[in-house]
Parts: sequence; C-alpha cells; structure tokens
Amino acid sequence: MEDITEEEYFIGSDAIISQTDEKGIITYANRAFGEVSGYKTTELVGNPHSIIRHKDMPAAIFMKMWETISGGQAWNGIVKNRRADGRFYWVDTEILPIKDEDDRITGYIAVRKEASRKDINETQETYRKMLETQE
Ligand SMILES: Cc1cc2nc3c(=O)[nH]c(=O)nc-3n(C[C@H](O)[C@H](O)[C@H](O)COP(=O)(O)O)c2cc1C
Repeated sequence: MEDITEEEYFIGSDAIISQTDEKGIITYANRAFGEVSGYKTTELVGNPHSIIRHKDMPAAIFMKMWETISGGQAWNGIVKNRRADGRFYWVDTEILPIKDEDDRITGYIAVRKEASRKDINETQETYRKMLETQE
C-alpha cells in the first residue's frame, strides 16, 4: 500500500460494481472495480470495502449507510475512495440490500458511477466540516 496523495484519479464511464455478503465482505467485484481501485479483483474479494476507505470520509456517513441498508432501504451518496497507489477518486454510489424470499437480507450490491463536479464540490465541503467537528 502506497502513501496517500492529493492526486485525483479520474474514473472512466464503466459502472463500478461489487457485491457483499450480509456482513459486508466482498463476494464479487467487476473488472472496472479492479481497474479503478488499483487492486486485483481477487484481492478485493474476501475483504470488506474499508480497504478502499479514504481518511477524508466521515465515520458518520458509513454509520448512516449501514443503518439504512441493514434496515432494508437503498442508500445513495457521494463517496471518496482511496486507490491502492494512494490517489483518490469520487463516486456517485447506490447500495441496495439483496433479500431472500423471506425478506431476510443476504447481502448488498453497490453500483458506482462518476460523480458530477458540482456534487463533488458540495460533498467535499460538507465532509470537511463534518471531519472538523468529529475531531
Ligand atoms: C455493498 C457495500 C459497498 C460499500 N462501498 C464502500 C466504498 O466504496 N467505500 C468505502 O469506504 N466503504 C464502502 N462500504 C462501507 C464499508 O463496509 C465500511 O463500513 C466503511 O469503509 C467504513 O469502514 P469501517 O466500518 O471499518 O469504519 C460499502 C459497504 C457495502 C455493504
């Protein structure tokens, strides 16, 4: 793992898709996820998504994310992730719970696309303020 840098990595137009079990352990990562994260898809599978967590992400965002999806609802948000080489990338993310026939959650699926500059700028400011009050 390389040191963190202030350099942005610009993602392509392919959707970045991953699936997890009910605990959040990655069970599937598409090719775009491998390319964008800088990890092999085989390295992503078996790990939680926190391996791509960026230090600029407030903990409260993930708490709300988990509260929402474990409650059976879809979660949408703008997420800053860290690449294996230390660079960062922003993604417009949707996470959906996967349920069995008895409505029990068996896992989650995330679909991420390039975030708009407007969303990135606004979110960046919000997260910066959240981090300031968190510490
Ligand atoms: C389907 C799914 C996708 C997720 N995608 C990301 C992601 O792209 N980046 C991220 O930092 N956390 C993501 N998470 C949240 C992580 O599981 C984790 O809660 C977060 O990285 C914070 O780490 P921590 O809970 O160890 O503090 C995702 C969770 C699920 C269930």
